[in-house]
Amino acid sequence: MKSSAIILAAGEGKRMKSQKPKVLQEVLFKPMIDWVCDSVNKSIVDSLCVVVGHKGEIVKTHLEEKYKNIATTEQKEQLGTGHAVKMAYDFLSNEKPQDVLILCGDAPFIDEQIINNSYKKHKDTNSFATVITSITNNPTGYGRIVRNDDGSVISIVEEKDASEEQKKITEINTGAFWFDTKSLLTALDELKCNNSQSEYYLTDVIEILGKKGLHEDSFSIPLENMSAANSRKQLLELNNIARKNVLEKLMDNGVEIINDAGIIVGPDVVVGADTLLLQGTVLKGNTKIGSGCTIGPNSWVENCKFGNNIVFNASQAHDSTVGDCATIGPFTQLRPNSNISKDVHIGDFVEVKNSNIGVGTKVSHLTYVGDSDVGANVNFGCGTVTSNYDGVNKYRTKIGDNAFIGCNTNLIAPVEVGNSAYTAAGSTVTKNVPAGALAVARSRQTNLEGWASKKLASRNK
Ligand code: UD1
Ligand code: CA
Repeated sequence: MKSSAIILAAGEGKRMKSQKPKVLQEVLFKPMIDWVCDSVNKSIVDSLCVVVGHKGEIVKTHLEEKYKNIATTEQKEQLGTGHAVKMAYDFLSNEKPQDVLILCGDAPFIDEQIINNSYKKHKDTNSFATVITSITNNPTGYGRIVRNDDGSVISIVEEKDASEEQKKITEINTGAFWFDTKSLLTALDELKCNNSQSEYYLTDVIEILGKKGLHEDSFSIPLENMSAANSRKQLLELNNIARKNVLEKLMDNGVEIINDAGIIVGPDVVVGADTLLLQGTVLKGNTKIGSGCTIGPNSWVENCKFGNNIVFNASQAHDSTVGDCATIGPFTQLRPNSNISKDVHIGDFVEVKNSNIGVGTKVSHLTYVGDSDVGANVNFGCGTVTSNYDGVNKYRTKIGDNAFIGCNTNLIAPVEVGNSAYTAAGSTVTKNVPAGALAVARSRQTNLEGWASKKLASRNK
């Protein structure tokens, strides 16, 4: 049976005091809306539409760039959650799902198990609506679930419209629901905005369907899974929850953490068993780290693929790959599109950009390797610079296997150093160096004998 999801993401989120639309605020470096979209994509739901509004163009562009399968619709004026769902009318008419899931774009921890299990209950109980609820001893601000004497759900009252008696109810609306699509669409047309906020409340659909004698049910989830962020403080709370959950999952899978101070790992990062993460390590984006590695302290790895048994100490890497047993750092920067082969050593104050470094090569200190293809077992002397940029264009440097680059060599690209060739220390290499040759490109040394004593004598005259 077909199902669709609608994510409500038109709200402004004033309390964030940000240029960014609220749903693009990040938890563990991942926009809240992406958490929700990923959960829907991993679930049994067949298609997804996001209702955008405040700074909607930015949200829409973000979703289009990241996802191929997500529709968007615009709510020009934020007239309430019921009105927001109505904006997906065309989407629902095209998709014709039997059931529709409604979610909030600012509650990132609704996961695919919750979606799938609540759907199962919705179908098993032949419900026309299933409210996803939570129990809390601090229900302030949430819609309260009102049940009749036999325990069935009859309505949801918003905090601002609740009686003193209703405010005592500890079961709250998480903002997530399953509906029978046809019944929902009919009920949306019957919504009135005669409440304290003059809004069209989606929550009023529950009472409307109930009065028609249609069966409604509920599905309860832990409070943590419904947490939403409306302010920076709440965003920090969500980050704390997510950070702890991610680290616990990693440890369950065999990752070693001695002290979790400042270790922040994104939800999509994969880390192998027996890898040690040291304090101050940030792993983000689509990063995959193999097993037996030591990462940190104080390191940043973003969208990288690392093999096994790597040491990555006090360094940064972006959009790059590192092979097995490589040792990187301290104080190395791997900029995008660097491919470091196995057994490579890259040491302190070395920057590598858009380059391929062959197996066993050593770039130990104070060196810049940019736009280069470096073979295997090359040795870089201290202070080597590939001069890849003439102010207009970038050029590549090619270095063959077993080459030896002397200290303080400038390689003026485009240039090639052949296999097993040498460059003399202090050379500025502008021409290709044939395999096996030694390139000397520096002025010859002249010694002026006795120069110092002559200078002293002239000064004492
Ligand atoms: C809503 C529920 C409340 C529930 C709470 C859970 C209603 C009337 N109330 O209250 O029962 O306990 O969520 O967090 O539904 N949105 C739009 N367009 C609008 C209004 C809201 O897209 O016109 C979106 C917001 O961006 C947000 C979501 O809907 O993602 C919820 O809206 P919000 O204003 O936060 O609702 P609450 O007052 O928190
Ligand atoms: Ca809210």
